[in-house]
Amino acid sequence: MSEGDVTSRAHAPVGEEELGGTDRTIKLNIFRGDAGGGEEVEYEIPYVEGMVVLDAVLYIQAHQANDLAVRWNCKAAHCGSCSAEINGMPKLMCKTRIDEYEGKEIHVGPLQAFPLIKDLVTDVSWNYEVSKGITPFTTSEKAPFTLYEEDVERLYEPKSCIECFLCQDVCHVLRTHHKHPEYAGPRFFVRNQWLEMHPLDEANRLHDLKEKDGIGYCNITKCCTEVCPVGIHITDNSIIPLKERVAGEYYDPAKWLMRKIRGRRNGDRAAG
Ligand code: SF4
Ligand code: SF4
Ligand code: FES
Repeated sequence: MSEGDVTSRAHAPVGEEELGGTDRTIKLNIFRGDAGGGEEVEYEIPYVEGMVVLDAVLYIQAHQANDLAVRWNCKAAHCGSCSAEINGMPKLMCKTRIDEYEGKEIHVGPLQAFPLIKDLVTDVSWNYEVSKGITPFTTSEKAPFTLYEEDVERLYEPKSCIECFLCQDVCHVLRTHHKHPEYAGPRFFVRNQWLEMHPLDEANRLHDLKEKDGIGYCNITKCCTEVCPVGIHITDNSIIPLKERVAGEYYDPAKWLMRKIRGRRNGDRAAG
């Protein structure tokens, strides 16, 4: 089965009557708890060919642990809701097949970069606050716009983000160093890239990227790119071009001198 078919079986109902077909069972260790603490609990369930981790978790919720908290919506890798950590790696549960873990234990836990609510559900609302702080699309043109095909192609990749926040979860600046107040994170560098590359956008976000969004903290480890389920080249296509623009604006010696002179003149005027 190809990568594109991975989620197709996720639509299978999780009722026991639908889960015939193999004699095998599988075990999942799922984190149960809340902000006050918790531990993994082992569940054993029937295995169905092609099942994904979300199928297994929903089976457990339906048959063995009705109070198991899990967030999901589309079961088709489109909504970004079912983000979790599977054996320590941020993944979409609906896109991760159980048979990837043949012969291995399976551990399912919540994202680590955001506050835990319960079991597999975290509070990702911080991300929406960051989003609100980004200067929105700004243009003097009146819609409908004429866009050229090459512009549409360039804008397509950053626009395909499903806001799963897996990249935010894996980024050590948030996950390990907890720089949330001063770092926007890879998802929002992708958003900034879309805005900055839009040919009709007239705003300048470079100052915010440097001072407020903390793009300088990113040391290009590419971990975010590796976990993106829709294949956005976050580091190469979003972060590096934005870093280059910021460097060109703030660390180019000629521009630095011009800013100094302008600042001094303004100071002289204010003093006079
Ligand atoms: S490349 Fe930058 S944004 Fe991506 S995970 Fe590494 S430090 Fe974070
Ligand atoms: S850039 Fe990729 S990993 Fe990050 S939120 Fe968007 S879809 Fe998810
Ligand atoms: S349920 Fe929508 S992405 Fe997994």
